[in-house]
Amino acid sequence: MAAALIDGKAIAASLRQSLAARVAGWTAKGHRAPGLAVVLVGEDPASQVYVASKARQTVEIGMVSVEHKLPVETSEAALLALIAQLNADPAIDGILVQLPLPPQINPDRVIEAIDPAKDVDGFHPVNVGRLSIGSRAFIPCTPRGSLHLIHSVRKDLSGLNAVVVGRSNIVGKPMAALLLAQSCTVTIAHSRTRDLDSVCRSADILVAAVGRPKMLDARYVKPGAIVIDVGINRITDPETGKSRLVGDMDFASAREVAGAITPVPGGVGPMTIACLLENTLDSYEVRIG
Ligand code: GUN
Repeated sequence: MAAALIDGKAIAASLRQSLAARVAGWTAKGHRAPGLAVVLVGEDPASQVYVASKARQTVEIGMVSVEHKLPVETSEAALLALIAQLNADPAIDGILVQLPLPPQINPDRVIEAIDPAKDVDGFHPVNVGRLSIGSRAFIPCTPRGSLHLIHSVRKDLSGLNAVVVGRSNIVGKPMAALLLAQSCTVTIAHSRTRDLDSVCRSADILVAAVGRPKMLDARYVKPGAIVIDVGINRITDPETGKSRLVGDMDFASAREVAGAITPVPGGVGPMTIACLLENTLDSYEVRIG
């Protein structure tokens, strides 16, 4: 039987609706609206699309979006000065510097300059450390969204085997930390992992975050597993010659074996921005609370 589809688009819309209600609750009591600052350096087309989408969804749920678009030749010192200004601004609850940055700017120095209490990306080492020791932290948006999707299928994950394929700082490592905090038995697999297919087939929860189109198929999936496909890869369809998005899973094949699976597009993707808004609202509530 084909797996159930995990509808990330609908789950993200419902999350945004609940965030909008939370925002309205605060503003009705006379509080200011939460503020999210997004900084974009340069004119990378994909980044411009992301940033526009973030700004639109921020405003849609009643929050304030502040955009800073800086020229591609911006110096690191100028960007650090802007971050210091946003750190000190009492109307800003979240700061996101869109990555990648141009080569003259060191991304680690930029991330470390953001006040950890406004680091809604969850990339600052303080938040990374807090997540790893299980204390209150901003959780990177894609893993947080992926966990929401897993919970939409099953609430209690205790004792389940989880395999995360991919060890990036943005997805793989924080995803593993989150699943461990849910009392899963967690394996992080990667490009050097031996017998990747049998490792993946041990997973009750399989998270694919490698960034390689259709790398994993039914042979990697345990019957009935929850499969979360984080990959967003643009390929040229060999049949139509048109460009389209595919995940890291071969969806048609994996769907025959999995119990529940996210599509691409319409799975994890829509959850990322919704969780950015959730992190911003969490930050705001700590600040005004
Ligand atoms: N570029 C692509 N995705 C992201 C993200 O989640 N956060 C930031 N800061 N930059 C990105």
